[in-house]
Amino acid sequence: MPLDESRAPDDPLRLFQRWYREAAKAGAPQPEAMTLATSGAAGPSARMVLFKGLEGGDFVFYTNYESRKGRDLATTNRAALVFYWSVTRHQVRVSGTVRKVSRAASLAYFHSRPRGAQLSALASRQSRVVASRSVLEGTVADLDRRYPDEVPLPADWGGYALRPRWIEFWENRADGAWRVERLSP
Ligand SMILES: Cc1cc2nc3c(=O)[nH]c(=O)nc-3n(C[C@H](O)[C@H](O)[C@H](O)COP(=O)(O)O)c2cc1C
Repeated sequence: MPLDESRAPDDPLRLFQRWYREAAKAGAPQPEAMTLATSGAAGPSARMVLFKGLEGGDFVFYTNYESRKGRDLATTNRAALVFYWSVTRHQVRVSGTVRKVSRAASLAYFHSRPRGAQLSALASRQSRVVASRSVLEGTVADLDRRYPDEVPLPADWGGYALRPRWIEFWENRADGAWRVERLSP
């Protein structure tokens, strides 16, 4: 449904949720995939991560805290997100400040993931060069034997929550593109 600017919900997060649901319903292949841009000592960088939901109005994603993005966020806690759903031709841009989620929340999410993903997170030193694929596979196999039951939450792995300071909604329509911008108070 095209958006009538005058009828956009007052709460931009409601509009975000509406567009997100619409994208999923319209068959967007991975509606939760979003670009995360950070900056640090080596300059700006961007990559895809998976949106894991809104928690108290914050956009949550999970990663390795020692990865490039993790090191960037330790340097400056400001970051930006971009969602683009080509099926609905909607883009949402968000920027704000980022904090780590609680260890309890990271633990709960970590253990909700498939065992293979948990072992990979434990084995991987994200963003660092690995000698070969077989070295990484060997590490995963060792950890699999070492932790036959529960895989421990890696110290350097967990969630971040981005609190939006600015959100832009962009809609591409046959009769021209327009945008709604919202600044948080
Ligand atoms: C669709 C897609 C989803 C991804 N989701 C995540 C994610 O949720 N968390 C993550 O750490 N990396 C994810 N990645 C990998 C990142 O894009 C990136 O390669 C990795 O995190 C290392 O980034 P960095 O070196 O800039 O920290 C995803 C990649 C793609 C293509």
